[in-house]
Amino acid sequence: MNQAPGEPGKKLMVFKKKETPTPSSETIPGLPWQVLIVDDDEQIHLLTREVLSGFHFEGRPVHLLSAASAQEARQILQNQPDIAVILLDVVMESSHAGLELVRFIREDLHNSLLQILLRTGQAGQFPEETVFEQHDINNFLEKADLTSRRLKTALKAGLRTYRDIRELDQMRRLEQELRQTADIANRAKSNFLNMVSHELRTPLQGTKGPFEEFKSQFHLFSGMKKLANRIESLPDAQQKQLFQADLREVRNEVVEIASQGLQSVEHLLGLIEDILDFARIEAGKLTLILLPCPVDPLVAEVLHIIEPLAAQKGLQIHYAPVTLTVQADSKRFKQILLNLLGNAIKFTSQGFVRLQIEAKEQMAHFTVADSGCGIPADKLELIFHLFEQVDNSVTRQVGGTGLGLPITRELVHKQGGTIRVQSQPGQGSQFTFTLPLVDHHLSDGCTEPLP
Ligand SMILES: Nc1ncnc2c1ncn2[C@@H]1O[C@H](COP(=O)(O)OP(=O)(O)O)[C@@H](O)[C@H]1O
Ligand SMILES: [Mg+2]
Repeated sequence: MNQAPGEPGKKLMVFKKKETPTPSSETIPGLPWQVLIVDDDEQIHLLTREVLSGFHFEGRPVHLLSAASAQEARQILQNQPDIAVILLDVVMESSHAGLELVRFIREDLHNSLLQILLRTGQAGQFPEETVFEQHDINNFLEKADLTSRRLKTALKAGLRTYRDIRELDQMRRLEQELRQTADIANRAKSNFLNMVSHELRTPLQGTKGPFEEFKSQFHLFSGMKKLANRIESLPDAQQKQLFQADLREVRNEVVEIASQGLQSVEHLLGLIEDILDFARIEAGKLTLILLPCPVDPLVAEVLHIIEPLAAQKGLQIHYAPVTLTVQADSKRFKQILLNLLGNAIKFTSQGFVRLQIEAKEQMAHFTVADSGCGIPADKLELIFHLFEQVDNSVTRQVGGTGLGLPITRELVHKQGGTIRVQSQPGQGSQFTFTLPLVDHHLSDGCTEPLP
C-alpha cells in the first residue's frame, strides 16, 4: 500500500498532484468543510493532504483533520460534531478498529449525517458487499484502486450528500420548532378563550336571575301587590277598571323588556358555551360520558326549548315519536339536535322543519330537514369548518358565529357517529347524523354516570 506517488492515473494513492493555487479567503464564501482522515499510516495522511490541497466544493475549501488511530478519531469526533466526511482506514490499532469506529459514530454519537468513506488496503479481508451490508458506511474505496481523481470525486459525492442531508435535517428541525411554537400559541389561545369565557359566564349567569324574576314574578312584587290591592278597593267601578288596565299595561311592558333581556343573556350564554366547547376541542379536553339514552324524552326536551322559536316564525316542527335508545352523552346529544334544529329554523322563513328518526344497521339515523334557503353545493363541506358561513343575505341577516356545525360534527364523531348534509339551494337542506343504537333489552333509561 505504501507505493510512492507517481504518474497520473496510477493506482493506490498514486495521487495525481494538481496545481491549484490556494484561493484567498476573499474568494471563499462560507466556512471550510471539515474532513477527518483516520489512518495509522503517516504516508496516507501526507498524500491525502497533498492531493486535496486547493480542493473546493461549492466555493468552500476543506479543512483536513488527522487522527492516527480510531481512539484518537473518537475524541476528535466527540469534540467536533460538524465534521462532514471521514476518510477511514479499517485496520489500525486492531484489525476492526475502523469498523468499530463506524458503530461508535452511528450508535453512540447518533451521528447519521457524517459521511463515512471507508478506505481499505485489505479489500480481500473486507469484501465490499459484506462491509456495506453489515456497517452503516457511505462509500467503500480500495486503496489499491484509488487515484487522486477518484478520491476527489468520492469526497465531492460525500460532501454533496452531507450537504443535502444536513439541509433536510435543518428543515425538519425548523418544522419541529415551528410546530412546537404553533402548539404553544394554540394552547395559549385555548387557555385564553377558556379563561375569558369563564370570566364572562359567571356575571352573565348572575344577570339571568333578575330578568327571570321580572318576567315571572313581577306581579308578586310587594309594591305591585299593594298597588293592585288599593285599586281593588276603589269604590268607583269604572275608575277601578281603568287603573287595572293601566297596571296590566305596566306589567306587560316590564315582562316584555325582561323577556328581551333574558333572550339576549341566553343568547350570549349560548355563544360562550360554544367558545368554551371550541377551546375544549382545541385542547383535546372535550370528554363525553356515553350511556344508553332513550331518544324520545330527550327529543321532547329539545322541542320544548326550541318550539317557541319556530312559533315566532310561524313554523311547525314535525316529529313522530320513536322508541329507540342510543349510546350517547345526553347533554351533547341534545346540543346536536338544538344546533341542527336551531339552524333549520334560523334559515327557513316559510314551509316546514322536520325531525325524522329511523333505525338502520345498528345505528339511529336522525334527519333534520327544512324548506329554507338551502346551501350551495361548493359550501356543503366548508360549513363544517370553524367560523365558516355561507356568505349570503340570509346569513348576514340572521347572524351567527360559524361555530355550531364544527362543534356538532366533533360531538357526533366523539359519539361514534357520522354527519352529512344534502341541500338544494332555494328549496331546503337535510342534515343527517347517526348514533349507535343500544339493544332495548340491555338498556333501561338514561342512566346517570356512576360516581
Ligand atoms: N339548515 C340550514 N340551511 C341553510 N344554511 C345552513 C343551514 N345550516 C347551516 N347553514 C349554513 O352553515 C353556516 C354555518 O352554520 P353554523 O356552524 O351552525 O354557524 P352559525 O349558525 O353560527 O352561522 C351557516 O352560517 C349557514 O350559512
Ligand atoms: Mg348555527
